[in-house]
Amino acid sequence: MVSVLFLMIIAGNETTTKLLGNALYWLWRNPGARAAVRRDPTLVPGWIEETLRYDGSTQMLARTVRGQLSFHGHTLRDGERLLLLIGSANRDERAFEDPDVFDVRRDASAHVAFGKGTHFCLGASLARLEARIALEEVQARLPDFEIDAPGLARVHSVNVRGFSSMPIEFTPRGREGAP
Ligand code: HEM
Repeated sequence: MVSVLFLMIIAGNETTTKLLGNALYWLWRNPGARAAVRRDPTLVPGWIEETLRYDGSTQMLARTVRGQLSFHGHTLRDGERLLLLIGSANRDERAFEDPDVFDVRRDASAHVAFGKGTHFCLGASLARLEARIALEEVQARLPDFEIDAPGLARVHSVNVRGFSSMPIEFTPRGREGAP
């Protein structure tokens, strides 16, 4: 029980935190997408899914082969270790048109940022909910946020994609439209 709870804390903390930073960063880098989300807040879930696809906070998974299997013309043997590059799969042009374009309107639902199959992320729904609430609030309260590019610092990790520092400037305000 303790190890399961520990896994949930580790698996659920940094991944979601980095997702929020990545979402802000890529919206800021894409003024067209930013204007679209500002005009139409119902695009926030699309913004989140596209961030997961385009620059997911988990980049790779490991597996150990059981038995022998054939995969794309290769024979994999019992006990071999595999590194699955899900960040790369999410840019596969056979699955996504113009994969290197950040498009908050695309159907990104085929992405594998939360894995796939038996070990599909236990916290995917929670992460999506947390991100939606946080980013809707950012849109409503800090719509003019600007990232201080020289202050950006990336996490130094082969697996975790995201920022350890992201200074932003904004004009404090209540929710847009609120009196
Ligand atoms: C953006 C946020 C998140 C991302 C990108 C993410 C990504 C992933 C991925 C790729 C896997 C598959 C691991 C594998 O197949 O080996 C996974 C599994 C898992 N995730 Fe997440 N995760 C996120 C948020 C969360 C949250 C919020 C929680 C918990 C509250 C969580 C708990 C877990 C657990 C317990 C597993 C293992 C599931 C199993 O092995 O059956 N994750 N996650």
